[in-house]
Amino acid sequence: MNRSIHELVKKQHEYVIGLRRHFRTFPEIGGQEYETQKKIITELEGMGLVPRIVASTGVIVDIKGDKPGKTIAIRADMDALPINDEVEQPYRSQNAGCCHACGHDGHTAMLLGIGKVFTAIRADLAGTVRLLFQPSEERYPGGALAMIADGALVGVDAVIGAHLWQPLTVGTMGLTYGPMMASPDEFTITIKGFGGHGSMPHQTVDPLYVGAQIVLALKTVTGNNVDANELAVLSLGMFKAGDIFNVIPDSAVLKGTVRTFSQATRETIFAAVQRICDGICAAAGAANKLEIYYGFPPVINNPDIAKIVAQAGEAILGKEAVIELKPSMVGEDFSYYQQQVPGCFMFIGVGNKDKGIIYPHHHPKFDMDENALSYGVEVMAEAALKLLQN
Ligand code: NI
Repeated sequence: MNRSIHELVKKQHEYVIGLRRHFRTFPEIGGQEYETQKKIITELEGMGLVPRIVASTGVIVDIKGDKPGKTIAIRADMDALPINDEVEQPYRSQNAGCCHACGHDGHTAMLLGIGKVFTAIRADLAGTVRLLFQPSEERYPGGALAMIADGALVGVDAVIGAHLWQPLTVGTMGLTYGPMMASPDEFTITIKGFGGHGSMPHQTVDPLYVGAQIVLALKTVTGNNVDANELAVLSLGMFKAGDIFNVIPDSAVLKGTVRTFSQATRETIFAAVQRICDGICAAAGAANKLEIYYGFPPVINNPDIAKIVAQAGEAILGKEAVIELKPSMVGEDFSYYQQQVPGCFMFIGVGNKDKGIIYPHHHPKFDMDENALSYGVEVMAEAALKLLQN
């Protein structure tokens, strides 16, 4: 453990918690983080730093050490979700229909805490720590691309980032040394039949019946087309057809998601989806349109950077507290940074059953054990220091 970092983090504990509660109280959805941006800029300027506005509602700031060296970027996302906040706490959202139910309030607060730490040790710092406050992680196409377009990674040697993670207990962290999070693709299938009276189905092409067959057939796609050693998920989230009991509808719509770790698997799956739609529709005399929206690339950790991050975690949380995870099928636009420079994404545990902190991400009662914030600040600061030295 790095004594000076540890003491500095301890000193910032209440500051970071205060910021986190502020952001939870005043959340903003992706692309509209204007007040969040203002608050970040005020705090950074208070540290004597010179932040710059990027990606419309994002912020970048460099903390340049007095000695030359590498540049390490640390990224936090800033956006909230368009749902009501149901947490019974004084910091419950005051912006109706908007809630920090994913923990990005904590990410932003931690990055400001990291800013305080590095500002304090600037004189001894060899190299630059760049803080990336990124808007709009929850909405496609994600804010990372706009950050990169505005120079977020210019001169950067490595990038790290963290998600506060409810499934992990506070005081632990998790990461992988390779594939970490999947590409979250979206698709829509529109089935065009021929509607009519419920009493005379023989005069119709029933898209509801066709859709039902497609639902069942799609369940075979991963098993029948993807190597069992490859990770892949296909699930459906919507099947809409018709409005009342005695009308056979004219069309039906299905929506779902495909989660993979490679372009080849992605293409295999969507080719199979198209074949199934074409085959079943042809048999029934219906038509179909498959629309695919490719989400973020997969988050793939650089093994060397991940080892350094894990060492930092072990020094602070203890060896047993750093968990090597299986890849998660959730998506993250942190992957765009990793396509440009080597990087590592990690999960910092916030779960705590004893405190009733059990609600999953995106739940209106999602909350965190705030002790996690200091752990996150210290692990990321320590990892950035190690990366500067390596
Ligand atoms: Ni999130």
